[in-house]
Amino acid sequence: MEKVKIEKNTVQETLIVPLYGRKMCSEKFPEIYTDIFAEKLCDRLDYDFSELEKKKNSFLYEFGSLEAAMRQLDIMWEIKEYLKKYPKATIVNLGCGLDETGKACDNGVCHIVNVDFPDVIEIRNQLILKCEREINIACDLKDYSWMDKVDGTNGVILFAAGVFHYFKRDEVKKLALELSKRYSGGCLVFDSVGKFGLKLMMSKVLKNMGIRDIEGLFYINDPIQELNWSENIKVTSNGYMLGYYDMKSPNIRFSHRLLARICDNIMKMSINRMDFKNLE
Ligand SMILES: C[S@@+](CC[C@H](N)C(=O)[O-])C[C@H]1O[C@@H](n2cnc3c(N)ncnc32)[C@H](O)[C@@H]1O
Repeated sequence: MEKVKIEKNTVQETLIVPLYGRKMCSEKFPEIYTDIFAEKLCDRLDYDFSELEKKKNSFLYEFGSLEAAMRQLDIMWEIKEYLKKYPKATIVNLGCGLDETGKACDNGVCHIVNVDFPDVIEIRNQLILKCEREINIACDLKDYSWMDKVDGTNGVILFAAGVFHYFKRDEVKKLALELSKRYSGGCLVFDSVGKFGLKLMMSKVLKNMGIRDIEGLFYINDPIQELNWSENIKVTSNGYMLGYYDMKSPNIRFSHRLLARICDNIMKMSINRMDFKNLE
């Protein structure tokens, strides 16, 4: 089967790290997480994985795979909760890359929408079969025309995994406020990190992008206080690594759990949920 090329040093390349992380976590910690799609997708990509392969047994890369997996598990937990109340809701994956969380939560009646830049959606279309209740939208998230194609009549849960780090704080705020106006009763779930954490995590990416000063970028030290953007939005927030699952397994080392605590408490890594007030 022909492989699909991922260009190096482009925004689309950012989808590789979480995808490879999910594949690695499925191999190393299957009792915690399995992603049946990630391994097959990596095999279909024309991308030089040798750098990642070389480091895959290092402690930090192993931990990175847990990070990718825990974020997906947390978000899936929120989606499944929402679908209990609104089974026919639309699940919207913002900045979807090659992630198939929508499908992993499919209850047979919900709808699934995946949004990303046109070059990523082109790759996604070549690699991933859609189910009959699923659409892909090629659009910049900052151009709100994509919202015209998302039907929120039966409820909508939108999520962004590893996406808002590339946004400015004002851009995330504007997007969240627009969503809260369009989708009353809907909800937005996304991960965030504090200032110190963002500096550490993104130092290489930011350098490549020529960004020296992280002021203005989207980092959040205290989600409940700082995401208090509207009286129509209720914010809840949990620890990213240990807020939903305790990560207890014989394969998880003490040092993994210690670092997980540092991520949640010192780097302020969080999963945030914004519930939009039902205005009807
Ligand atoms: C780090 S990757 C995460 C991919 C996916 N959410 C996952 O967890 O595997 C970031 C993704 O966000 C997309 N992205 C970043 N900024 C975007 C924007 N303004 N509009 C649409 N997609 C965007 C990138 O193209 C990329 O696919």
